[in-house]
Amino acid sequence: MYSVIAAGVVGSSFVEKLDLPNLVLSQRQSGAPGMLSYMERAMLAALTSKLYRGDGAIIDGGSFFGSSLVASASGLQSNPDFARMDFSGFPDARPLHGYELGFLPAPASDKIDKNRVFHGTPYVLGESFVPILEKNVDPYRDLISLHIGDLNEEVWEGAPIEIAFIDVCKTMRLNAHVSKQFYPSMIGGNSVLINQDFFFDRLPWIKVTMGYLRDYYRWEGQVFTSSIYTSIKDVPQEVADYDPFTQGSYEECLAYHDAVAFPGIERKYEYFLELSRGYLMALKDRKNDALEHLRAVADRYEDLLADEHTDRGNQFRMDRAVRQITNGNIFKVS
Ligand SMILES: C[S@@+](CC[C@H](N)C(=O)[O-])C[C@H]1O[C@@H](n2cnc3c(N)ncnc32)[C@H](O)[C@@H]1O
Repeated sequence: MYSVIAAGVVGSSFVEKLDLPNLVLSQRQSGAPGMLSYMERAMLAALTSKLYRGDGAIIDGGSFFGSSLVASASGLQSNPDFARMDFSGFPDARPLHGYELGFLPAPASDKIDKNRVFHGTPYVLGESFVPILEKNVDPYRDLISLHIGDLNEEVWEGAPIEIAFIDVCKTMRLNAHVSKQFYPSMIGGNSVLINQDFFFDRLPWIKVTMGYLRDYYRWEGQVFTSSIYTSIKDVPQEVADYDPFTQGSYEECLAYHDAVAFPGIERKYEYFLELSRGYLMALKDRKNDALEHLRAVADRYEDLLADEHTDRGNQFRMDRAVRQITNGNIFKVS
């Protein structure tokens, strides 16, 4: 049974237990620079303060300025069992492991200004923002190990993982690497996986992977674009080593993409999943199928497109998908 908990928040009794609508974040949690919404910060803080047992590490894949790390670490400190937890068996004897490349790509042309401001925090494209991240997580430095660099080069040595918050599968290569490195170490039947980029129009490989892994992870709900799962059983290494997106056939990928039902999600998110399906078709070399699919989606979701008044909203996403698939210039895929 899934119920609507708040706008954009749907879940089973597992998500209901987090009591997100009543969770009030501290100024440090809500104000930490970063990309996460209030509710997603609340989700991480609730998981680490209410449900985390200290049996495995917590992975933060894609830390940016640190809002997700701050939410998880501060939640952990308020866990009633925190003082009794022993982290000595985890890598670097720390429970939280943040993975971050450390910079956002510089623009191709010198003529474009590289100075940016993200929600009040200035940074420079192509230059390291690690000092900003380090400053934000400094109050929790005894709990957090930062792994700065390309996650594709990182190896997880097998310590158990109790929570994985994955906000880094921006490429199919990263997606396959995350599966291989982390999922076999997740505590079978007693761990939580969150894919932050799931209810999103792009990155279809994440949906394909989670459909492929449907016997291993149970869908528990949604907080905006984040998709929440609990582990059903251990993921064998050979299962995680197979990349369904690049190794599966077109038909298999479509079947995995559509394999899991998401009862209760808003129509807008169903629409995003349909756009993701279109990208999947194009990336599997079925451009004509993809464009035909998008035409049918435009008809079916005409009401959403007509209701659209925002700059990067539903109509923008449809136009972008049609344009990029037509030109063969789909978002970075390697
Ligand atoms: C959506 S952001 C993460 C947001 C973050 N969780 C927060 O709370 O604000 C994704 C992050 O992944 C990082 N990233 C992208 N590719 C990476 C890679 N190959 N290795 C490590 N980090 C990477 C980006 O630099 C970016 O900061």
